[in-house]
Amino acid sequence: METDYLWWRDGIIYQIYPRSFADSNGDGIGDLQGIIGKLDYLEGLGIDAIWLSPIYPSPDIDFGYDVADYTAIDPKFGSMSDFEFLVKEAKKRKIHMVLDLVLNHTSDQHPWFIESTKSTTNPYHDWYLWMDPSPGGKPPNNWQAIFGGSAWTYDPELDQYYYHMFYEEQPDVNWRNPDVRKAMLDVFRFWLKKGVDGFRLDVFNMYFKHPDFPDNPRKIGIRPFDQQKHIYDCSQPEMIPLLADIRGILDKHKESYAVGETFLADPQQTAGYCGKDKLHAAFNFDFANNRWHPKRFLQSALSWYSALADDAWPNNFLSNHDMKRTATRYCFGEDDRRAKVALAMLLTLKGTPFIYYGEEIGMRDIPIRKKSDVKDRIGKIFWPLHKGRDGCRAPMQWSHDIHAGFSQADPWLPVHKNYTERNVTQQSTDPGSMLNFFKAVVSIRKAHPALQKGDFVPLDHQSPHILSFLREYGDDVILVVLNFSIRNLDYALPEGHWIALLNEKKNYQSSINLAPYQVEILQKLPD
Ligand code: NOJ
Repeated sequence: METDYLWWRDGIIYQIYPRSFADSNGDGIGDLQGIIGKLDYLEGLGIDAIWLSPIYPSPDIDFGYDVADYTAIDPKFGSMSDFEFLVKEAKKRKIHMVLDLVLNHTSDQHPWFIESTKSTTNPYHDWYLWMDPSPGGKPPNNWQAIFGGSAWTYDPELDQYYYHMFYEEQPDVNWRNPDVRKAMLDVFRFWLKKGVDGFRLDVFNMYFKHPDFPDNPRKIGIRPFDQQKHIYDCSQPEMIPLLADIRGILDKHKESYAVGETFLADPQQTAGYCGKDKLHAAFNFDFANNRWHPKRFLQSALSWYSALADDAWPNNFLSNHDMKRTATRYCFGEDDRRAKVALAMLLTLKGTPFIYYGEEIGMRDIPIRKKSDVKDRIGKIFWPLHKGRDGCRAPMQWSHDIHAGFSQADPWLPVHKNYTERNVTQQSTDPGSMLNFFKAVVSIRKAHPALQKGDFVPLDHQSPHILSFLREYGDDVILVVLNFSIRNLDYALPEGHWIALLNEKKNYQSSINLAPYQVEILQKLPD
């Protein structure tokens, strides 16, 4: 049996939001040395790669997603030598590094943008999307910023508007300018040389806008942004040849990887960006947005698999730094049973699992009660309709020590008050904890190529509350049965002899009784 192990296909990718992971220097903000100090923990989790949310110099209007220098490290996170040390130490533990590249827009503090505002003849002026006003001094067209208001900000000195899909401090660059294209592609080369193996591309399908900047057609929606069909401000065809250029650069490096975040794209469009001469993978938001219903998850997974080309490999995620955490969405109070089912599903479905820091201990969002406490600016803009994304970005809960062992100082966001009970130290010694459950499923996954790169065969679930499927790779056949409900349910096994891998290592032949929210992972024994 072929056993070649490919980290980004067979492994697990763990997302770290660096501000919130571990603070080594006591300023209340996580940093690279903090992450280095936790590498043994990450190795013990059995993950294969770290996706680091942005670590570049940034004024933090959008907490790192407004980059002021693509090839440096923000001093609040450490230095370039800290980063190099992190890469080296991670490699020793067979952990790959995936950096977040935010190339649709820069910070307005990026020297390129500062230059571009100096005059309309400045060589950098055309690096951004500057346009003359419409008659009457109005914005050039009706495009809206997702973070509120017109997407155009007026500069009285230049008597022109510049375009930004997000905050006005995040001007979009002009990817049609060959110098921009070259500068951005050089960013990939720079980090690849530093030993980075992969990239997560922030809102990459927005890089190109329609060259004529026509008004977007209208539709019904709540906010002005939702009252438009976004057909001219994103997903333009020029992205496809650009992806081929990016892939060309990546393919010069052994086992490199790129995963893209699409914006306003359905799974079919998203899948269209994956495969040969394109990205290795992209995020399927449809899966993460499901209600607690096995059929829904199955449908999203199946439609994701069928949308992807044969030469693309799926990936799955349930949480990230922009959405409510898995456990917050699906669990009742501190009961972890649903979170365990969700994690088991993520780790056994076909596709590279992405785990958001803290998901392995079932972290919940911190409650956001007062507008004045909000750090994420969109929470202030849209309060109380949308309270921002602080909830899922709270400090990692390491121990029951002060500030959950995250920092010696007051953290930039409060720790969840459940940290005294819910933390890594406590869960390490509790055999029934989320953490030990996570590790147990990961070690089964690691031992079975079927769970890594195997085929996916959905089964008749026998109950609307059960999700069950086979993963098959040669002789390695694994059956996953997930009880999504609070009921005891009987499940008739497919033909054959099965041995339970997760719970008591019992042999089964015809049926199993599933306790509420029970997860069963069974291996087919040879005849
Ligand atoms: C998507 C990122 O995930 C989000 O955090 C950010 O605010 C926007 N892109 C803008 O960069």
